[in-house]
Amino acid sequence: MALAPEAAHRLTVTALKLGLGPRRQSGDDPVLATRVWGRTFANPIGLAAGFDKDGEVIGAMARLGFGFVEVGTVTPKPQPGNPKPRMVRWPARQGLINRLGFNNHGLDSAAVRLARRPGGVIVGANIGRNKDQSDAIADYVAGTERLAGLADYLVVNISSPNTAGLRDLQEGRALADLLTAVVAARDGTGSATPLVVKIAPDLDDAALDALVAAVLDAGIDGIAVSNTTISRPADMPERLAREAGGLSGPPLFALSTDRLRHVARRVAGRVPLIGIGGVASGQDAYAKIRAGASLVQLYTALAYQGPALVPAIKRDLAAALRADGFASLNEAVGRDVDSLAGSALPAARTGGTT
Ligand SMILES: Cc1cc2nc3c(=O)[nH]c(=O)nc-3n(C[C@H](O)[C@H](O)[C@H](O)COP(=O)(O)O)c2cc1C
Repeated sequence: MALAPEAAHRLTVTALKLGLGPRRQSGDDPVLATRVWGRTFANPIGLAAGFDKDGEVIGAMARLGFGFVEVGTVTPKPQPGNPKPRMVRWPARQGLINRLGFNNHGLDSAAVRLARRPGGVIVGANIGRNKDQSDAIADYVAGTERLAGLADYLVVNISSPNTAGLRDLQEGRALADLLTAVVAARDGTGSATPLVVKIAPDLDDAALDALVAAVLDAGIDGIAVSNTTISRPADMPERLAREAGGLSGPPLFALSTDRLRHVARRVAGRVPLIGIGGVASGQDAYAKIRAGASLVQLYTALAYQGPALVPAIKRDLAAALRADGFASLNEAVGRDVDSLAGSALPAARTGGTT
């Protein structure tokens, strides 16, 4: 009998903390290098939020070959999350439903771990709000102020389906007020840490259009598409479809890539995008890049396929880029997006070319 998914995850993190992970991989293929927010990423494949919620295994994950690591979601105060069990596998499709509810050690702990993190690793910090906090904006401001100087970029997570009301922040006045507040908080710290907004794949075209307008208006530096979905595919067994939470892994790939492409069309290169959702192969990563992503992240496929997945994805992505005649990754960004196809990308998109 397999370990329950959350126990398996805890065991993996513990083993990595003990130094049982692989040694550093050999250097990345230069075709995979990219510049985003003025930083050079040796490769565009990152660890998505939720795996290392408390920044415990940043170095170990970098040694797996990830080009960057996102920690969190971190809330101001520590909180236990929802009752267990809160992770359910869908083995037939390598999917996962989770309803963790932001279990994490809080901002004080994250700040210490980020300050002591190993050098040479690009690290994002993903921030959220506590379950019992009624003033959501105050929590995002606290996270921004606390972690701005300590991470290479910050992610404002308003798309987890497991904190009541969180996704309401993706629309209307609430969104505009939140974005204005976090930009002001970031600017107030004197740091220029890029701010990224992470969104759900369950937004329709009109909601995405309004969100992109609000993001650009507020001076946000990037959009991450997407978090898990509350939708359930038609082929999902009824017993699983009834489980509360967000679905991730390959069953999320088509939806999240479609939403990414729509966002890319509207953003038209003005800020970089992070493509997330169901990436399980080099071809999947390549499709995200062609759909407009400058950077890619994954989580669920790592749980199913193990650490060998990361070098395999990088190898196959490099081969796909070369096969299509691209000399650098940046040239492939947005190739499958109507309004971007065939046009040279503006330098502003990635803060310069490699
Ligand atoms: C167990 C689990 C926990 C997650 N926790 C977070 C989280 O704390 N914050 C967040 O922004 N996303 C979280 N996510 C979402 C992932 O970062 C990612 O957006 C989503 O799983 C889609 O990518 P994937 O299909 O490669 O897993 C979590 C996902 C899983 C499976």
